[in-house]
Amino acid sequence: MKAIIARDYGPLENLEYADWPEPQAGARDVVIEAEAIGVNFPDGLLVQGLYQMKPQVPFVPGMEMAGRVVAVGDEVKTLEVGDRVAAMGSLGAYAEKMSASENTVMKLPDGMPAADACALMCGYGTSHYALKQRGQLKAGETLCVLGASGLTGLAAVQIGKAMGARVIAVASSDEKRQHARDAGADEAIGYENLRDDLKSLTGGKGVDVAFDPVGGDSFDALARSMSWGGRLLVIGFASGTIPKLPVNLTLVKGFAVVGVFWGAFTAKEPAVYADNMRELIGWYVAGNVKPLIESKHKLSDAADVLKRVLGRGAMGKLILEP
Ligand SMILES: NC(=O)c1ccc[n+]([C@@H]2O[C@H](COP(=O)([O-])OP(=O)(O)OC[C@H]3O[C@@H](n4cnc5c(N)ncnc54)[C@H](OP(=O)(O)O)[C@@H]3O)[C@@H](O)[C@H]2O)c1
Repeated sequence: MKAIIARDYGPLENLEYADWPEPQAGARDVVIEAEAIGVNFPDGLLVQGLYQMKPQVPFVPGMEMAGRVVAVGDEVKTLEVGDRVAAMGSLGAYAEKMSASENTVMKLPDGMPAADACALMCGYGTSHYALKQRGQLKAGETLCVLGASGLTGLAAVQIGKAMGARVIAVASSDEKRQHARDAGADEAIGYENLRDDLKSLTGGKGVDVAFDPVGGDSFDALARSMSWGGRLLVIGFASGTIPKLPVNLTLVKGFAVVGVFWGAFTAKEPAVYADNMRELIGWYVAGNVKPLIESKHKLSDAADVLKRVLGRGAMGKLILEP
């Protein structure tokens, strides 16, 4: 089969589209034939050796695939050949087929497009876990979302609204801010005067929950804009800068800084993860969350697509198709 191969850690253009051995189903695994493959920001960090996980080379990157089951292992109980599913792993999805452990695979509701299923996994899954378990977001609270037109940011805007919050979106252009408003944000602002704008939009009280996938200078502005009892969620560092925090701010302002690592959560708390995915799919079926699929590309164009995602050029979800 064809796959995208990282033969060594290095720049994105070194990724190769070439032949790779077909995956086999282990006893508790299924093999999925791809209809859609989800592109995620961490995929681009991983192949450059900039991610916390460093698999042995050569490897096939990619963590999300949706499609049809074409083989099942002897001990698989809940899935059969022909089922339409989505799966999440840490590697192997940038390929025509992928094997996945039964407990990481979910069956798709009738009619759910494969691209939407991919978006609901890492993008929506991260934001849901962040706001629900880590941020304890409550109806009526104010949520501020940075990078609000990106994958996790747009998901946080929609999920924040589904949870009853007032959502302030932050994005870098009029077009991006419009996407955030279309996704349900109550307000959409730029980064330039973040601290003053958040102060005036909250009547001086500050934000209850902040969702930060960007890092850099904006993190400092957020840390100075938190309400008493607030929760500042550390999601990622798309700006490329891991911020530093004067911890006296947390004492004086009485807020918490909370780390979020969705991949580790899915492995350490599989039952909570499964409940979260059921809730997300329920919201999807009810129309409360709707992934924005920005564009679909050939699998062979993976390197260019990753460049766009890492270069601040993407809005919503980008998809590869074999
Ligand atoms: N903690 C977890 O479990 C978890 C899970 C998934 C992703 N992540 C991390 O979260 C971050 C965002 O992921 P994502 O999927 O939301 O990515 P994305 O769709 O590319 O969105 C990232 C947003 O960050 C903003 N940004 C600001 N400066 C940037 C820069 N120099 N380069 C690129 N983007 C920049 C952009 O919006 P503006 O132009 O409006 O600023 C962009 O829309 C990444 O660091 C990723 O690794 C973490």
